[in-house]
Amino acid sequence: MLVTSEALPLAKTGGLGDAVSGLARALRDAHVDATIFMPAYESALHAASDLEKVADLPGLVGGDAEVWAGWVADAEIPVLLLRNDALYVRPGNPYLDADGREFPDNGIRFAALAQAAKRISVGETPIRVPHVVHAHDWHAALTPLYLHAAGIKRPKTVLTIHNLAFQGNFPLHLAEDLGIPPAYRGSDGVEFWGNLNFMKAGLRYADKITTVSATYAREILTPAFGHGLEGVLGLRAHELHAIPNGIDTEVWDPGCDPYLPEHFSALDMRGKIRNKLEMQRAFGLPTDPEAPLLAMGSRLTSQKMADLAIKVFPLLLAAHPRLQIAVLGCGERALEASLQELASHHPRNLGVHIGYDERRGHLLHAGADMLLHGSRFEPFGLTPLYSMLYGTVPIASRVGGLADSIAGLAPEPDAEVGSATGILFDGDRPADMLAAVERALQTFAQPQRWSALQKNGMTRHFGWEASAAHYVELYRMLAPVAPVGAP
Ligand code: ADP
Ligand code: GLC
Repeated sequence: MLVTSEALPLAKTGGLGDAVSGLARALRDAHVDATIFMPAYESALHAASDLEKVADLPGLVGGDAEVWAGWVADAEIPVLLLRNDALYVRPGNPYLDADGREFPDNGIRFAALAQAAKRISVGETPIRVPHVVHAHDWHAALTPLYLHAAGIKRPKTVLTIHNLAFQGNFPLHLAEDLGIPPAYRGSDGVEFWGNLNFMKAGLRYADKITTVSATYAREILTPAFGHGLEGVLGLRAHELHAIPNGIDTEVWDPGCDPYLPEHFSALDMRGKIRNKLEMQRAFGLPTDPEAPLLAMGSRLTSQKMADLAIKVFPLLLAAHPRLQIAVLGCGERALEASLQELASHHPRNLGVHIGYDERRGHLLHAGADMLLHGSRFEPFGLTPLYSMLYGTVPIASRVGGLADSIAGLAPEPDAEVGSATGILFDGDRPADMLAAVERALQTFAQPQRWSALQKNGMTRHFGWEASAAHYVELYRMLAPVAPVGAP
């Protein structure tokens, strides 16, 4: 049972949603009977099919709840939705209200998810008991604690860290309301600098911990990337496994993506131009098949170096009058406003769309020539992989999963392209990012080298099969007697 706050198409604010549903599909293809368990947000109630109530969960923190079972992905993936409309059916996204403020009761909302997961997992409901409970990120990270505290025969637990920067910190006094036993509330339990820290609970009590790239797994053991939890992680380093994400090629395939006006592939790139023209129109830029088109599509936060990009764009536009830049994103309000302000000064060269828009996201990866993806840290980084598959060359920071999944072009001006798929840079000064984009523009002006980079990226294999096989191996270590057969 995969316990999560996001899964496509039920709810998504970032890569977590893609990763969980991609994993679920791949596990089922590998004959593991994987089920997704998540809150019944309004979007989830709409996206799931054949929903029926399968259990009552009275007396959960946050109020009485129910579990509804249904399906997604053309009835290929079963889902269980935790239903408490007062907690989960609200305007906004899974975490923020319509004005972008955190819901004040997020601690209760996600503790309820974990409590429900525990009650299902110890057989307190008619729902079949899972062999392994796999919690994703802080939202689900109290699950291992509750199961550990249940102290009876229980399934083993895995916690996957998709992003250690988000930890779920709440006042420590909440621990009592959430039913966290006193023995678990100390500094060797959930306490973190006087707060209650959900992620720490998962790190302490999960039987196994995984994260989504080998480089990030090493980085988070250091103070520069550990966000204060490097010590706790260090104590469990022998239980920490790196299993990189894959990408869901049923959702991301330029050969049949329903969001694209025209399809294309590494063998026949002609359709990419039509996507470029469509993208230029969608971002209010002049249609020009020859102009270099740089895209940025991500949460607008300091993790994604959006602050740096805002400094670098004017320098680039001053030096390259024909350059076009298209930005799709949402996040910190001040960064959104600065980007819009900048776009008003460069109406013919900079198109900014603030908002979350799946269709535009696909078009952006298909239509652009290059994708700028700076990151101060990046657990995995799905976006540059999508861009590579769509023939859009990534310019990215050499951190975390990006360092593992992008083969960087050698810096010498006429270096062999070899097996390179993108341009990697170090550092977080404007000059670092600027120099990387300059290198990309120089290479773009050399069509043969550029198309070699594109083809290399488009023909790399990023499917989920190998990663799912790793998870299956891990689950088998934890539940050796679990029957495996066609679901
Ligand atoms: P993260 O999970 O840190 O945000 P990833 O690159 O792993 O980064 O995943 C981001 C996912 O969210 C991708 O599927 C990307 O296309 C999508 N995404 C991010 N911002 C937007 C947006 N504004 N509109 C549509 N999709 C977006
Ligand atoms: C997180 C990370 C991102 C990763 C995604 C899926 O949101 O920021 O790097 O790709 O989770 O694992």
